[in-house]
Amino acid sequence: MTEGTGRSLADAVREGTAVLAAAGVPSPRADAELLAEHLLGVGLGRLRALMLGDTAAPDGYGELIAERAQRIPLQHITGVAHFRYLALAVGPGVFIPRPETESVVQLVIDRLRGLAHPKVVDLGTGSGAIAGSIAHEVPGAEVHAVEFSEFAHAWAARNLQPLGVHLIRGDLRDALPEHNGTFDVVVSNPPYIPAEAVPNEPEVALHDPPEALYGGGADGMELPTAAAASAARLLVPGGYFVMEHAEVQAGWIAAMLERSGLWAEVATHRDLNGRDRATSAVRACPAASR
Ligand SMILES: C[S@@+](CC[C@H](N)C(=O)[O-])C[C@H]1O[C@@H](n2cnc3c(N)ncnc32)[C@H](O)[C@@H]1O
Repeated sequence: MTEGTGRSLADAVREGTAVLAAAGVPSPRADAELLAEHLLGVGLGRLRALMLGDTAAPDGYGELIAERAQRIPLQHITGVAHFRYLALAVGPGVFIPRPETESVVQLVIDRLRGLAHPKVVDLGTGSGAIAGSIAHEVPGAEVHAVEFSEFAHAWAARNLQPLGVHLIRGDLRDALPEHNGTFDVVVSNPPYIPAEAVPNEPEVALHDPPEALYGGGADGMELPTAAAASAARLLVPGGYFVMEHAEVQAGWIAAMLERSGLWAEVATHRDLNGRDRATSAVRACPAASR
């Protein structure tokens, strides 16, 4: 054995997987491997190579497995959430970015292609996943981000400052009035869960902040509706709005945007699982909205 004491790495990962499976963790093998990778400071390929040899389990591995078995989110244990090309610092008080939101970022990036210095704002930025990805992947973009929660704002500041994003602490309902009518893109993954729809997974129900989850009102639509109203206020004519939402809200959101007369080209987008999880629209020019 070359590191730590006691069990081999391969045995520890196998046993850790069994402990996590018994605790109901949805991806026990992947999480057991990721915790070992985190402690050893290696990637998956190197970890698997080490598991073929006589490497010992690293000190502290059992403790991390025990934490994860209590359904503490993996990202809170490692302190990192991977999102597109970014490794974001996360922990208690901030929403952990989800893979489906990466598709929403792609819609923005596709839209920005060909614009030299586009101006973008992310409403309800959380860890800064969306705003940070756009700043990282779209050279020349001027990216702004708005976050209401004091705790999430602190995490966002840490992640976004190195990327040059203009972050403010504010309410997406009335933020950035001095920028009205100037953004090329408004993007948002607002809170949207209906009040009664408490998520089943303990990682979400107990560890994501409530203010990041519940959209307000029985249908969870208060903040999504407010985000759409702010987008209409903030965009240039012809500017692009895209918002993530629950599958059940897709029809309501498309109807709301169409009914308002403020939007053209309303489109629903599927996530990688084929579910209607985002809606985009183009801010109608005044002549078109008459
Ligand atoms: C579902 S999380 C999304 C976070 C991040 N955009 C992402 O995709 O990972 C919603 C975020 O909106 C923030 N938020 C809630 N109400 C807000 C408001 N009125 N104004 C601005 N941000 C708000 C929450 O604190 C949370 O960080």
